[in-house]
Amino acid sequence: MIRQENIDIRKYTTFNVPAICDFFVEVSNLNELKEALDFSKNKNIPVLFIGGGSNILFIKPFHGLVIKVNLKGIEEKIDEDDKHILITAKAGENWDAFVHYCTSRNYGGLENLSLIPGNVGTSPIQNIGAYGAEMKDTFHQLKALNISTYEIEVFDAESCKFGYRDSYFKNEGKNKYVIIEVTFKLTTKKHNLKISYGDIKEELLKKEIYEPTLANIRNQVIEIRKRKLPDPAIMGNAGSFFKNPIISIAQLENIQKKYPEIPYYKISNQLVKLPAAWLIEFAGWKGKKEGNVGVHKNQSLVLVNLGDANGKEIYDLSKSIIEDVNKIFNIQLEREVNIIL
Ligand code: EPU
Repeated sequence: MIRQENIDIRKYTTFNVPAICDFFVEVSNLNELKEALDFSKNKNIPVLFIGGGSNILFIKPFHGLVIKVNLKGIEEKIDEDDKHILITAKAGENWDAFVHYCTSRNYGGLENLSLIPGNVGTSPIQNIGAYGAEMKDTFHQLKALNISTYEIEVFDAESCKFGYRDSYFKNEGKNKYVIIEVTFKLTTKKHNLKISYGDIKEELLKKEIYEPTLANIRNQVIEIRKRKLPDPAIMGNAGSFFKNPIISIAQLENIQKKYPEIPYYKISNQLVKLPAAWLIEFAGWKGKKEGNVGVHKNQSLVLVNLGDANGKEIYDLSKSIIEDVNKIFNIQLEREVNIIL
């Protein structure tokens, strides 16, 4: 285990902006993880865990220890009931490689979540989701190391308190645990395919695919994502920068008086979710460039590094967008990306 000091770890993040930290270490097993934690405790400095670095924005140097969790391994467990399989991946496995592993073996449930950047271990923190599926739909349990006691604790779905892009680990559990592995319960037959979201069904039909396989769905999702979302290897970004806001029906009706065309999705009898991308586009930000940063031309939820940006420039852009959307609609957009202040 090599510990580095005062280094720029931007290559481990997808925004590709300066990401300076006092100490950085990569851990590939539990002993190394504990050793790294001991070091931070002895020095009395804060710790920051990163996985794929795909949901993080450094706007200042981090005066602490960054631990990159590289624990690897995939384990298939007993066929629970002949229709399902329990499959466990260690936190440092790349998310999309894991999805590929599952779909290529005909294990169903993760195919709509293809090509999401990041690692398995960070997927539960914000309950990643796309194309009508969320990680929580197939989640079985996870194991996390308690940072103060070094005990390994098991969390089921209920104790993870999953919500839309949200979980226990973003709230009460923040800075208390590091996730070391996640187990999913996937189907081995009679898959529950989700193809009604957006263009998936239409695009499959255009290709004359009437009874799609998991691989067909995975490929279709990849095709749509590649068309709409910028590749972080080419243009730094962290996917959706904002969450889709959830508001009350009463608030929606109020907004509709002035903007009857506003799109929304009903999520309960009292609540609706609004596409933040639409609000941002309406506010005139889609495709706009400001110096080194900009709003992506195909998906206004995505802020991009146009080449040589720093984190503060991205952050300031997000602030201007939040202010404008608030002025027009009286809605406060929340950032999805983890900001390192
Ligand atoms: N829309 C616009 N302008 C745009 C893009 C979208 O007006 O530039 C509107 C349209 O009305 C469209 C609606 O927004 O019908 C929804 O768009 P889309 O299906 O692209 O989804 P999203 O709500 O904008 C969410 C996730 C994405 C995920 C897509 C696809 C969040 C914060 N984002 O975006 O996740 O890929 O659904 O399922 O929930 C990510 O988290 O990094 C991410 C990319």
